[in-house]
Amino acid sequence: MNVLGIDIGGSGIKGAPVDTTTGALSQERLRIPTPDPSEPEAVAGVVRRIVDHFAWKGPVGVTFPGVVVEGITRTAANVDRAWIGLDARKLFADATGLEVTVLNDADAAGIAEARFGAGRGRGGLVVVLTFGTGIGSALLMDGVLIPNTEFGHIEIDGHEAEHRASDHAREAHDLSWEKWAGRVQEYLERIQALLSPALIVVGGGVSKKAEKFLPYIELAGTPVVPAILLNEAGIIGAALAAGGRP
Ligand code: BGC
Repeated sequence: MNVLGIDIGGSGIKGAPVDTTTGALSQERLRIPTPDPSEPEAVAGVVRRIVDHFAWKGPVGVTFPGVVVEGITRTAANVDRAWIGLDARKLFADATGLEVTVLNDADAAGIAEARFGAGRGRGGLVVVLTFGTGIGSALLMDGVLIPNTEFGHIEIDGHEAEHRASDHAREAHDLSWEKWAGRVQEYLERIQALLSPALIVVGGGVSKKAEKFLPYIELAGTPVVPAILLNEAGIIGAALAAGGRP
């Protein structure tokens, strides 16, 4: 089955049709910069452009970088506050004339990694963490998603974790990889203490550069591995969520 997956990120909105039986993109993905400000109507306009580009007529999955409950976006830590309490599913459906499923961006990456990536075949509790503009989290128990965890916002030493350890924080504070890895290490230790996962998958934009920081990370008892699907996890997970499961 082919489903159009669209991943709304802090800097870019990316989409491609996905073969949900293999997890492969069936056409080259299209990336359009995220409108600034990232107001709902402007973002919906980009979603429509992506649908038009692929002349898409089938189901569509869209990720959102905040809590999403039954199509309603409930938080907006790194996007325009007008999203809070909005019926995003309706907004996108009206903009495209198609049936749309909306889910959290890290949850999408999590289901994609669990099905086709670094968590494939792993039983028990798998935590997928995405390091980008913020820190996103996905919790999967035996491959089943427990949605809308928000572990990027746990407090460490009086600071929100994503303000210290996101990839954005690394760039904004001009941290060396080693120094930033120290912050990630502290964060992962806290996640391990809270959840005792069988596996932690490190994803998000920074997973492309895993060799620069993962060598500094050491978590006794819990393997920490880089995501495999990299930039495409959100697109693939969005497509899976929109009806691709056999
Ligand atoms: C949001 C999460 C999101 C993460 C990554 C956080 O600030 O609260 O919902 O998954 O950023 O985009």
